[in-house]
Amino acid sequence: MADLRNALRFILNDQEVVLDGVSATRTLLDFLRLDKRLKGSKEGCAEGDCGACTVLIGRVDGDELRYESVNACIYFVGALDGAHVVTIEHLSPNDGELHPVQQAMVDLHGSQCGFCTPGIVMSLYAMWMRNPQPDTTAVEVALQGNLCRCTGYLPIVNAAKAASSYGDVANDPLVAHRAEIRERLLALRDGKTVDFGTGKDRVIVPASVDDLAEAYAANPEATLVSGATDVGLWVTKFMREIGPMIFIAEVPELHGITEADGKLTIGAAVTYNEAFDTILTHYPQLGDMWNRLGGTQVRNVGTIGANIANGSPIGDTPPPLIALGASITLRKGSERRELPLEDFFIAYGKQNREPGEFVEAVHVPLLPEGDQFGCYKISKRAHEDISALCGAFRLTLEGETVSAITIAFGGMAATPKRAVAVEAALVGKPWTLETIEAAIPAFGEDYQPLTDMRASAEYRLLAAQNLLRRFFFESTGVGERLKREVA
Ligand code: FES
Ligand code: FES
Repeated sequence: MADLRNALRFILNDQEVVLDGVSATRTLLDFLRLDKRLKGSKEGCAEGDCGACTVLIGRVDGDELRYESVNACIYFVGALDGAHVVTIEHLSPNDGELHPVQQAMVDLHGSQCGFCTPGIVMSLYAMWMRNPQPDTTAVEVALQGNLCRCTGYLPIVNAAKAASSYGDVANDPLVAHRAEIRERLLALRDGKTVDFGTGKDRVIVPASVDDLAEAYAANPEATLVSGATDVGLWVTKFMREIGPMIFIAEVPELHGITEADGKLTIGAAVTYNEAFDTILTHYPQLGDMWNRLGGTQVRNVGTIGANIANGSPIGDTPPPLIALGASITLRKGSERRELPLEDFFIAYGKQNREPGEFVEAVHVPLLPEGDQFGCYKISKRAHEDISALCGAFRLTLEGETVSAITIAFGGMAATPKRAVAVEAALVGKPWTLETIEAAIPAFGEDYQPLTDMRASAEYRLLAAQNLLRRFFFESTGVGERLKREVA
């Protein structure tokens, strides 16, 4: 392995922090509140839902230094190497003057009990630095991951829109001094892999994908952690000991998105938000689902590779990626193999992955011209909710006849799974409502869904059948005609 460093280095507000003895499972929120006595960030849910713990993480990205909101309750300290952590305490100087976002919240009555307020201010602050004149939609997106139970959102939205009348964003310290902060962060980078602690408390932060491959092959019992939007809950909700941990979110080679040979190749550590523009460009039908993957804080750190590697039957990206014919590159040491994504999921909690092997990239074919594609997420809440089921459909017609169709669902079986019997009932037939109805019973051959807190088995089966009908109506334009007629 390349040179090692046995301490994390990052900046917390104004202070440089060097840590060589933090537990692998120490969350950023506990570190702030318990170790640093910075108690402005609150703990509401401890699972990434409420946003009361929101802080900003700044990272150097090429010539830029980008600040993004994250949920500190499920973000691990081990992931902070090279980062700038900004908490609510950093917003107003000691003279008591409030930050423009804070003052707007006060004057426009954006806070009552105040428990959610620091998190809301931090989410709005992240948005304001990028977009100082937001419209309502931009504010709503920024606040998707922040719950307020007593104020009501209208005063908060009004405050967000008014923040620029309380101060010029150009004078904000994180904007005005960004180049200087970037230099400070660059000075912390030495290209070394971080490795400290022993046993369950061992923390490894590989500096390159080769270092990651070497470290994981040598320590296959380790937990790989990227955005920790699920792994964080293993610690905060289930009190699991999951160290040693290897933090992979900042491995540079895992962050690329390239297009070649009719495919997109997406590095395993590309976050949902990093991929958003590319996804919208090539698969605009995924826009709605993508916007409903957690809240903004979750999309800022959650990664496509981990959503796959996690193997959850209700992960949102596997159904559309399977429908699109995606494959993945798995790597162990210096050996790589490519696998159709649908073959990765073997059984509940079991993937086609050897100890020490990790997902390095996902390859997604571009949609051939003329193919139709749809993806639908069904959840109890529109935003910030896990799917009850998620269905994706890709259709190729020759004239009016189905020459190929791929259908994949999450939430309908122990793994993300194709509806091969339904597909077989459709191929070679005319793409008509009669064909769809004749194929509907085949869902019973493909899926025997479970009843759980998200949906009953009967609901899931009926909803899946109705999603095929919906895809048919949308693909033939009937849905749009009906909408126009109803309007
Ligand atoms: Fe609720 Fe962190 S405490 S998202
Ligand atoms: Fe009370 Fe938002 S002000 S929860």
